[in-house]
Amino acid sequence: MKKNLETLCVQAGWTPKKGESRVLPIYQSTTFKYETSEQMARLFDLEDEGYFYTRLANPTNDAVAAKINALEGGVGCVLTSSGQAANFYAIFNICGAGDHFITSNTIYGGTYNLFGVTLKKLGIECTFIDPDWDDERIEAEFRPNTKCFFGETISNPGGNVFDIERFAKMAHRHGVPLIVDNTFATPINCRPFEWGCDIVTHSTTKYMDGHATQVGGAVIDSGNFDWEAHADKFQGLTSPDESYHGLTYTKTFGKKAYITKLVTQLMRDLGSIPSPHNAFLLNLGLETLHLRMPRHCENAQRVAEWLEKNEKVAWVNYCGLKGNKYYDLAQKYLPNGSCGVIAFGLKGSKEEAIRFMDNLDFICIVTHVADARTCVLHPASHTHRQLSDEQLLEAGVRPDLIRLSVGIENCDDIIADLEQAMKKM
Ligand SMILES: Cc1ncc(COP(=O)(O)O)c(C=O)c1O
Repeated sequence: MKKNLETLCVQAGWTPKKGESRVLPIYQSTTFKYETSEQMARLFDLEDEGYFYTRLANPTNDAVAAKINALEGGVGCVLTSSGQAANFYAIFNICGAGDHFITSNTIYGGTYNLFGVTLKKLGIECTFIDPDWDDERIEAEFRPNTKCFFGETISNPGGNVFDIERFAKMAHRHGVPLIVDNTFATPINCRPFEWGCDIVTHSTTKYMDGHATQVGGAVIDSGNFDWEAHADKFQGLTSPDESYHGLTYTKTFGKKAYITKLVTQLMRDLGSIPSPHNAFLLNLGLETLHLRMPRHCENAQRVAEWLEKNEKVAWVNYCGLKGNKYYDLAQKYLPNGSCGVIAFGLKGSKEEAIRFMDNLDFICIVTHVADARTCVLHPASHTHRQLSDEQLLEAGVRPDLIRLSVGIENCDDIIADLEQAMKKM
């Protein structure tokens, strides 16, 4: 029976059989028992499905992955120990030394650093493009060794909306998949596969969890990209893997080739899995995602409109505001709301902005975003402080940018807290 998103949030992933726990159990076990050596050997050869070691698969983690997969509409999902690990795995699954990929430059600072610094050390080169450039200018950046294109549905912290359909078509014209980090929108507000995206990633640390209790990530495969049609580019998927006795992922796993390789090869060798307990906490968050997201969006819309009218505020970037540069794209991709994150700048010096944040009452300064509790951060002096001023501007982060993550409290109280802190500036 086809179910709606709200039902999937509550029900997907775990369907107990007679006498089993109604609530998803935590299989806090590294290992699983078999009757014969032969049974275990078949698992190692990928000839049978089953659990043998939690680094590769665990029933609790798998149930939560199945829920996220159902929400995004993919063929398979893998949970990772963080959003950083998810983005690393998503790229590294198809890129190796000597390869290149293209990314939007308006992405989370940690991802920017991962792509521009750490992957470079592994011999993977990345070109940062401005999504506002015209097609011709961006297409000129594709090279014969380009393996994918990357962007964030709603960028952190700038709040720019990524034109998924445009970049999916562009990536496909060059025979490569589009990978989209859908953390801020969540599948409640946008399902990138419906717009031609091939792989979705998440930092589940954010809205999916929603209560700031676990750090986690996810990679979801649409199953739509035709790796065989570009077999020379993606030999890791289309030619024999000697570490599995010459098995070829596309031949053995078809539409699930990418996600199966990610688990059986990358997780086996690198092992960034979440603990089953963390997956359990994530599942509790997912059960109310469909209730929380509309409330985040409703509150953020009101707060953004209030900020826009406030004389102490220099500028506001929230794609739900009419007149915002991304309003039209938001109407297309995020018709039911975007997220609770607003970027804005205050008139006056950086010190005034810091004083404003220090004067807030229940709105806390935390290195976090997309949580039920309203919180605030100054990226230039916190999350993005490793970037130069030039890189900050390239990443859409103005030095005066304050990132306000609007929670699900009473909106009158949120506005009252902002107001009293501004009065003390
Ligand atoms: C859009 C986005 N992607 C990825 C990450 C990294 O996720 P994590 O902190 O779970 O490693 C973040 C973290 O803020 C993020 O905002």
